[in-house]
Parts: sequence; structure tokens; C-alpha cells
Amino acid sequence: MTTRRALVTGGAGFIGSHLADALLADGWAVTVLDDLSSGKRGQVPAAAAFVHTDIRSPDAATCVREGGFDLICHLAAQMDVRKSVADPGFDADVNIKGSLNLIEAMRTSGRQTRFVFASTGGAVYGDLVTPPNLETFPKDPDSPYGIAKYAVELYLGYYARIHALDYVALRFANVYGPRQDPHGEAGVVAIFCQRLKAGTPLTVFGDGGQTRDYVYVGDVAQAHLRAAALPALPPGTVDVRAFNLGTQVETSVLELAAALMRGTGRQVPVEHAPPRAGEQRRSVVCIDKARTALGWSPAMPLDEGLRRTFDWFNSR
Ligand SMILES: NC(=O)c1ccc[n+]([C@@H]2O[C@H](COP(=O)([O-])OP(=O)(O)OC[C@H]3O[C@@H](n4cnc5c(N)ncnc54)[C@H](O)[C@@H]3O)[C@@H](O)[C@H]2O)c1
Repeated sequence: MTTRRALVTGGAGFIGSHLADALLADGWAVTVLDDLSSGKRGQVPAAAAFVHTDIRSPDAATCVREGGFDLICHLAAQMDVRKSVADPGFDADVNIKGSLNLIEAMRTSGRQTRFVFASTGGAVYGDLVTPPNLETFPKDPDSPYGIAKYAVELYLGYYARIHALDYVALRFANVYGPRQDPHGEAGVVAIFCQRLKAGTPLTVFGDGGQTRDYVYVGDVAQAHLRAAALPALPPGTVDVRAFNLGTQVETSVLELAAALMRGTGRQVPVEHAPPRAGEQRRSVVCIDKARTALGWSPAMPLDEGLRRTFDWFNSR
């Protein structure tokens, strides 16, 4: 059997590096493409080839066009919501135009490749719907980041209909686990782990009743393998091939802090700071579609995932 070839953009980052590990373990030949703007070279598995470039560059397009890939998992992104608010043009440049550079290169490669796109279940639905959010719910993104992610999904639908491009969009909830950057704004688990390790108080904005759907990074990586194995989209299809990836369990920030302290046996004070303007109150996704059509469900219980994440931070 010939070796299947996968490209992981953003494979030096948090989720992408776990995905590169999972693909290698599943027998794929893996190439990672990353500009190392937030990712780390040391997180790219030794068995993967590495292309150091920006997804917006001609080099990235050449890599996609000539790499002979059966699968492209596109995770490279500007993923800071607040940065997208401060500089929507930069966000659109990376997250929309960078994605289009890869998609266009795929179209002109003349090769049938599965394109799996890292979308968001936390930022496309907005606050106007009652969770758990179904894939079919109206999209009402509250940030330029969410708009850009949804725009790429719309482009993918267009390319599927008009150019027979074969894609899957995966809408991740709040992903956590080892290697998450504790300095970013997305990773409350990573931030809390760092604080617990240092023995400093956990800061909770507002009353701490705001909820999120925390899904373990290893489970998200496994979902990509399922997405890679789906049958090809029939040409001209109008189906939206998007799947929420989460746990369908709502956890408040206060519950998260308590679970972490319980699981690690470490106790620090919880301090309350003023609520952050515009912060979503509830966020949780329905995962019935992923369960049925991908045959995927999250395997990692929250307590165990939190313990593993803390152990990783604590060992550094
Ligand atoms: N972490 C989450 O909870 C979450 C939730 C929903 C969606 N996502 C999406 O998952 C993907 C991965 O997120 P992550 O949490 O692993 O973030 P991350 O910052 O750890 O990884 C992103 C990677 O992309 C690379 N990158 C950024 N801009 C690039 C560019 N212009 N060219 C090439 N490489 C570039 C970075 O160096 C980094 O290695 C992103 O697309 C993000 O939007 C993440």
C-alpha cells in the first residue's frame, strides 16, 4: 500500500502538533507548514518534514500544489479573538486570504485532496441562539475572527460546488491540553495550570458563571483522522460539511477552577475581577452530527484531561 501524505498547516502549534503526532501514529507521511509566529519548532515531531513559511506566501502555494498530498489539515491561523478586534484587516489577511492561497493552490494542483479546515464552534454562532449550538443554527459571529472562520467555510462550500473541492470543516469548542500557550487569551485551562504551579491566585472575570465546552486536544486530533476517512463529497454537493467538536457539557469557570484544584490537590485563592466587555455568557456545542456521521465522540473525561494538562505544565 502506498503511504498516504498529509500536510498540517500550523503543525508547530498547540493542536496542530498533536494532530501531526496522531497522523504519524496512524501511518501517514506528514509535512508541517508553519511560520513559527506562535508555534515552536521543537513541537514539530522529528518524523515530520518541516516547511518554514507563511500560508500567504507563494512558497506555501507551491508546497500545496506540488506536495502530492492526499490530506491537508489547515490549522495555521491568527487565533487571538482580541487581536482580530484590534486589527480586523490583519486577521482577514491571515485567516481569509491565507486560507484562499492554499485552497486556490489545491484547485490548480489537479489532484483530489481532502481539505480539513479548523473552524470554531465558539465564535461562529454568537449569542442570539440558545445552546447547545447545532451546526444548522444561524451564524452571528461576534468578532472579526469568527467572521473570517465562517467566511472560509462559505468559500469551501463554493469551491465544493463549483470546483468539486473535497472538504470538511471542523468547528472546535474550547480545546485544552498539553502544549497550549498559557500567554494567549484562549487558554483558560493553560493559564490556570500555570497559576496553580506557581501557587498564585486564579483570576475569574465577573461572577465565574460563564460556561464553555472544554474538549481535550487528543480527541480533536482523533476527529481529524475520522474526517480524513469520510467518503469523498459527491461533485456539485450543496451539503454543508461542518461538524461541531466538543463534549456537549457546559462547565462554568468556577467549576473548572474547582475541578483543577480537586484533581491536582493544589489549592490557591480565586480572585474576582470586573467582567470583560462582550464576553459570551454560555458556549456549548451539540455533537450529535459528529457522533453519527464521523463516528467520533470525545473519550477524555474532563478531570483526567485537566490532570494530564497540569502534569505537563508542572513538569516543565
Ligand atoms: N485552541 C482552541 O480552543 C481553538 C478553538 C477553535 C478553533 N481553533 C483553531 O485551531 C487552529 C489551531 O489553534 P491552536 O490553538 O493550536 O493555536 P496555535 O497558535 O498554537 O497554532 C497556530 C499555528 O499556526 C501558525 N501560524 C500562524 N499564522 C501563520 C501564518 N500566517 N503562516 C503559517 N503559520 C502560521 C503558528 O505559528 C502556530 O504554530 C487555529 O486555526 C484556531 O483558530 C482553536
